[in-house]
Amino acid sequence: MVDIAPSILAADFTRLGEAIAAVERGGASIVHVDVMDGHFVPNITVGLPVVRSLARATRLPLDTHLMISEPGRYAEQFVEAGAQMVSVHVEIDPHLHRTLTAIKAKGAQAGIAINPATPLAALEEALAFADFVLLMSVNPGFGGQHFIPTSLDKLRRLRRMIDERGLKTRIEIDGGIDKSNIAEVVAAGAEIIVAGTAVFGQGDAARAVRELLDATVQWV
Ligand code: DX5
Ligand code: ZN
Repeated sequence: MVDIAPSILAADFTRLGEAIAAVERGGASIVHVDVMDGHFVPNITVGLPVVRSLARATRLPLDTHLMISEPGRYAEQFVEAGAQMVSVHVEIDPHLHRTLTAIKAKGAQAGIAINPATPLAALEEALAFADFVLLMSVNPGFGGQHFIPTSLDKLRRLRRMIDERGLKTRIEIDGGIDKSNIAEVVAAGAEIIVAGTAVFGQGDAARAVRELLDATVQWV
């Protein structure tokens, strides 16, 4: 089962409620919220107050992607604010086991996010403690970037790593996904597909989600 998780980063922030209602109509099953602090990544976006408001506006699970320094200090607060999924970057948290455990103890799903240049070996020990891995297929910080082609091979290797260990860890992929490459990433083992520009960059976000869902199956 493939989940489409539209990233609100590409939506009109003055009309977030309408944006979420539209993707819900289109069949999206998760809402992806990019939290950036201007330290870990060179951009600043939204934080806890916006997550609280979104939680009141939708029944869809909120997936908060924390691109912040000291994620361990804030992760639980995002669950309290209404996030059902919280991901933390492996590059920035020296106490990943503690943070992932704390997220789960609060009742949310805990994810490890990993940048394009970080080797999968960095997941060796922590993989077993995560509900999902968020594989970045662009360098985090901005929407609308191009999918880094080597991500596809990395995705296949991650799929193998998870399957070989008999884990149930889901793979989420994030960055540069659109109708042209979604089937390929799904075939390579991604189960949660983040899409910002491909959903909100068009006029009709509901239709864009439907088209992405249709394109997950490769007819060859
Ligand atoms: C990038 C963010 C992504 C981004 C995806 O730092 O993590 O979630 O919003 O946007 P697109 O789909 O436009 O690449
Ligand atoms: Zn993201």
